[in-house]
Amino acid sequence: MNTRLAGRYAPTDIVAKRASGASIQTTGGDSFIDFILGNLTQLRGFRSVESLVRRIEELDLPLNVGDYPHEIQDRLAEKLLSISRKECLRYTNSGSEAIHLAVRVARAHTGRRKIVRFYGHYHGWYTEEIAGVVPTLYSEGLPAGARDNLIQLQWNDFDGLRQAFAQHGDDIACIMCEPVLAHSGTIPPKEGFLETIVDLARQNGSISIFDECITGFRVGLTGAQGLFGVYPDMVVYSKAVSGGVPFGVLLGMTEHFAPLNEWRVFHASTYDGNILSVLSCLEVIDELEQGEVYEAIGRAQSELIGGLESLFMRAGQPYHVQEAPGLFQIFFTEQNDIGSYADAQATDIPRFNRFVHTMRKHGVRVSEGDLSHDDTNQNWLGSWFLSAAHDGEAVSRTLEAAEAAMRELTA
Ligand SMILES: Cc1ncc(COP(=O)(O)O)c(C=O)c1O
Repeated sequence: MNTRLAGRYAPTDIVAKRASGASIQTTGGDSFIDFILGNLTQLRGFRSVESLVRRIEELDLPLNVGDYPHEIQDRLAEKLLSISRKECLRYTNSGSEAIHLAVRVARAHTGRRKIVRFYGHYHGWYTEEIAGVVPTLYSEGLPAGARDNLIQLQWNDFDGLRQAFAQHGDDIACIMCEPVLAHSGTIPPKEGFLETIVDLARQNGSISIFDECITGFRVGLTGAQGLFGVYPDMVVYSKAVSGGVPFGVLLGMTEHFAPLNEWRVFHASTYDGNILSVLSCLEVIDELEQGEVYEAIGRAQSELIGGLESLFMRAGQPYHVQEAPGLFQIFFTEQNDIGSYADAQATDIPRFNRFVHTMRKHGVRVSEGDLSHDDTNQNWLGSWFLSAAHDGEAVSRTLEAAEAAMRELTA
C-alpha cells in the first residue's frame, strides 16, 4: 500500500483505525498516546464529528454553495479579523495555499521578486516554499532556479537580517517566518526579533508574513501575534483553527490586499471557505473562548516537562528544554540555548531520534526523524504538541514510556 508519508518519517507498521482524546488505536490492536495530533490539528483532542454534523443539520446548511458567499463565512470572517487585528481575508483549503497566496500578493503589491526566509521553517510544499526550507534544495522535480529569489537566513540572526535588507531591501517583496519555529525543535524568537522583522519590512516597503499554521490558536486564541504583541502585515492560519477539517486563511490589511480585491492577482478554488470547514472553525473558536482548553494544555505541559526533566537528570542524559504554550522540544545537548536551525542540527539528533523511536515501542508517538538517514539537512526535529485531552493518565503513561526508552538507550 502506498500511503502518503509511510516509509520516510511515518512508520509503515502503524495503520490508524480510531482516535479519541489523546490516543490513536491501530488496526493491529495497539494504542498510542499521540503528540502529533492529526498533523497538529486537534487542540481539544481527537473527537467524533457528531456535533459538527448535528450542527449542520440544525442550521440546515448546504455543504457547498460554490461562488455564492454564504452568511456563515461572513460570521467567521468577523471573528478572524477581530482575533488577528486585520482588515481583509481570503479563505483557502490548506496552509500551503494560503502562504502561496500571501507571497503572490506581496509580489504584486511591491512589484519585487525576492523572499526572505529562515532555515528550518516549513511553509508548505509549493515551489519556492519547499525549495528553500533547508540549506540544500529540498525536493526533486522543482523548476531550475527555484531558489534564485530566496534569501535564506538563520532564525534569530539579527545581523544577517539587517544585512539582507541593507543589500537587497529594494528588491525584497516579503519576509516570512514561523513566529515560533516549531519544525526544527521549539525555537521561540529572541526578544525583539519579530519586531525587527516587521520594522525592517516596513522601512523597506516589503511585506511581513507570519505563518501561524502551527502557532495560530495553539499558543493562544490570538496566536503568536497576541503572545508577543507583534503584528505583521499578513498572517496565515490553518491546522488547529479548523480542528481537523481542510482549511487555511490569509489575513492582511486593505492596502496590501488591493491586488487581490481588484482581481489583478488571480485566486480561486472550488472548496475555499466550504461550509463544513467554516462551521468547524466557529465551533473551535466558541470552545477556545471558554478558556478551559488552554488551562488543561498548560497543566499537561508543565507536568510532562517536569517529569521528563527529572527522568533525564536521573539518567545523566544532558538535555535542554524549550517551549511555547502548547508545544515544546527536548534537545539532547550540553548547550542551554538553541536559537536557530543550525543550533538544533548541532544537538544529538540521532540519539534523540533513537529515544523517540524506542518510546513508540512503548506506546507513545512523538514527531520522529528518520533513523536511517544520515544527511543532517534532512533531520527534521519537530516538537511535542499537546492537547486538552492529555490528562493525568496520558502524562503518566508517557512518562513510563519515556523511562523505559531511556533505560533501553542507556543499557
Ligand atoms: C508552519 C506551516 N506552514 C505551512 C504548512 C502547510 O500547511 P498544509 O499542510 O495545510 O498545506 C504547515 C504544515 O505542516 C506548517 O506547519
